[in-house]
Amino acid sequence: MTQKKQEDKKVKTAKIIDGKEVSKALKDKIKKEVAEIIDKGEDGPHLAAVIVGNDPASETYVKSKEKAAHSVGMMSSVYRYPENTSEEELLKVIDFLNEDPDIDGFIVQLPLPGHIDENKIIERISPAKDVDGFHPVNVGKMAIGQPGFLPATPAGILELLKYYNIDTEGKNCVVLGRSNIVGSPMSILMSKKGYPGNSTVTLCHSKTENLKEITKNADILIVAIGKPGFVTEDMVKDGAVVIDVGIHRVEDKESPKGYKLVGDVDFENVKKKASYITPVPGGVGPMTIASLLNNTLKAYKKEYYK
Ligand code: GUN
Repeated sequence: MTQKKQEDKKVKTAKIIDGKEVSKALKDKIKKEVAEIIDKGEDGPHLAAVIVGNDPASETYVKSKEKAAHSVGMMSSVYRYPENTSEEELLKVIDFLNEDPDIDGFIVQLPLPGHIDENKIIERISPAKDVDGFHPVNVGKMAIGQPGFLPATPAGILELLKYYNIDTEGKNCVVLGRSNIVGSPMSILMSKKGYPGNSTVTLCHSKTENLKEITKNADILIVAIGKPGFVTEDMVKDGAVVIDVGIHRVEDKESPKGYKLVGDVDFENVKKKASYITPVPGGVGPMTIASLLNNTLKAYKKEYYK
């Protein structure tokens, strides 16, 4: 066989972006800093989470946040309220946490029950304790490039790009999904001056026409569209960097649990085309929690708000 033919036969496969490894590196750094703070005789950072109702996914998220906080030596508290808690009662909880000097940062787990106005709740959180980066003041700071709390998932994706030295300058970055939590902030951050950033960004959503033509032009494709396996091989440019934010349980009769976790990207086929790809689980997911802990440490150190 000629050398050319041998090369053609080689199956190309993307480098896997290991979110577990990167999140461990970030958590180790946080853990070291927390230990130094505690060694000085201080209490160290304290993260609180508020959860209303009993959505099983929210319960899982909050439990893993608590476990992660403890793993880096941070204090963690969970405030649980029943589904029928009124908006007024929840606003009082927010006021209490805003005032409590022992709590450095807190999050209100979303979604909230339908009778509660999420925006009203988020606006009540003190921007100085808003470690989710959802308050309009922090969103505004991000939009104009001022230092403030960045939302955890986009911040985690930036860490992944940095860790793997992925070139972003002048690249076409396509973001699928325009949520306030991921797609919208991600598109803003990738367009900012600096690294990772300086990309030419296109934000696509449910009303986008000719989606495939746009995604095929992406050097960096960030997918947060909430549909299992949505991005297929034919939508991806050769050598693209593919970041998958989705996480879904789909039936899997071969698995003892009866299900498996998949992302928004058809991983098995897209990995043959991409240069880098995040797996699900073990890609973006672990970074979100590590970034939340990083924000909590910054809140403790009053890095953004004196
Ligand atoms: N629900 C889904 N993702 C998040 C998140 O990052 N923060 C909060 N508070 N709720 C969520």
